[in-house]
Amino acid sequence: MISAQPLASFDAERREDNIRKKTGGSLARYSRAQQSLAGGVSSSLRRSARPYPLYFAHGSGGLVTDVDGNTYIDYGLAWGPLILGHAPAAIREAVEVQLRRGLTYGAQHDLEIEISEKLISAIPCADLVCFANSGTEIVQLALRLARAVTGREKFLKFEGHYHGWDDSVLVSYHPSRLEIDAANGEPVPAGLGQRRHQDVFVAPWNDLNAVEAIFNSHAEEISAVICEPILCNSGCIPPEPGFLARLRELTSKERTLLIFDEVITGFRVGLSGAQGLFGIVPDLATYAKALGGGTVLSALAGRREFMDWIVSGNVVHAGTLNGNPLSLAAASATLNVLAQNGGAVFRDIERLGRRLQQGLTTVLRNAGHTLVTQGYGAVFQLSFMDQPARNYRDTMRADKRLYSDFALALLDEGVLVLPDGRWYLSAAHTEADIDATLAAAERAARGSRVNP
Ligand SMILES: Cc1ncc(COP(=O)(O)O)c(C=O)c1O
Repeated sequence: MISAQPLASFDAERREDNIRKKTGGSLARYSRAQQSLAGGVSSSLRRSARPYPLYFAHGSGGLVTDVDGNTYIDYGLAWGPLILGHAPAAIREAVEVQLRRGLTYGAQHDLEIEISEKLISAIPCADLVCFANSGTEIVQLALRLARAVTGREKFLKFEGHYHGWDDSVLVSYHPSRLEIDAANGEPVPAGLGQRRHQDVFVAPWNDLNAVEAIFNSHAEEISAVICEPILCNSGCIPPEPGFLARLRELTSKERTLLIFDEVITGFRVGLSGAQGLFGIVPDLATYAKALGGGTVLSALAGRREFMDWIVSGNVVHAGTLNGNPLSLAAASATLNVLAQNGGAVFRDIERLGRRLQQGLTTVLRNAGHTLVTQGYGAVFQLSFMDQPARNYRDTMRADKRLYSDFALALLDEGVLVLPDGRWYLSAAHTEADIDATLAAAERAARGSRVNP
């Protein structure tokens, strides 16, 4: 059975048949890859693609083309990094210049200084920065720094927030109802093999009472509060008015570090990220994804009194490829484009993204569906449910199977979206892409009319 609601299943069986017929090259490769590559994919989440993971040959701007020659308008954008779209000329040229000069030096070079200075001028909490390769790594550096500075072992995170796949943070990420009930208030590890999580307190997003209750009994133990300042990994849920300000107040009072994980929001919702958007300055902030424009790069930005622990060498920060010039050349080009005309790109993306959200809402509501969109123009969530979510548990009310059927129908219509309902826009998307996407959504919705 494809869906619990056959009338509203976006004609999923027919759509899947169509896709299978035109993506034989992907299927053959996926079958072959499974003989050598564990699970056939390089990151577990990619396995959830329906009908199977596709193989891509090239991308350009807002479009990506698979190995069978099907071209899609891409709202997945490699899970977020491609803020300027696929293979933008500015990044290509910068990387090509650097390629001829050397792939990496394992030593100092001018791009490190240039990008550090750019980050400091864009990011409110940045007195000093340092570089690594992935979001996962840089979050670990932030948490290590917080432990060193405070002499405390534990930290507080929020349910549904993702901070990479290290044991220490891969907890209470997307627990099922059964797991939540079985855990009886304890953090829920994702998958097997993880160490026990004795160092983590978990609170629901937007719930000040829960945060305050944890602080009332454990303030002396908590080195850091870490959050996605916009909960992009579970429903794109913004902080409620006053929530971040109260976190700031509480952490300052208790001498706990406030860490914003801006791996998604950084250089996506604006040049100064979520901290610029909301006017709340954390102690430390982590960046990856859009900063490198699709290359391997992450950064930690923070206030001098804390970053000085790295300066002194008391907190170790190391990595063979840290600050590698290829990634920093890409970052240089990315930041130059994003900073042009006072950040005009962000305003354009916001406008296009809002238009897309409104258009999708109209098309789907006209077909009888109940849905909400949450978030911003550059990153938003579309969920089949009746009320916006306040926290992760609210997102569990969404009809995920129905969304998955919608995504499948869109794929058949030449629109690629992520399986979890998150949509990313880039500077390369155009009004024509939005028109084409809305027309595709309209055709997809025709197969699902709830009240024909
Ligand atoms: C908010 C957030 N933090 C950290 C990470 C981990 O980054 P990476 O996948 O580069 O290790 C991600 C990845 O999606 C993320 O969304």
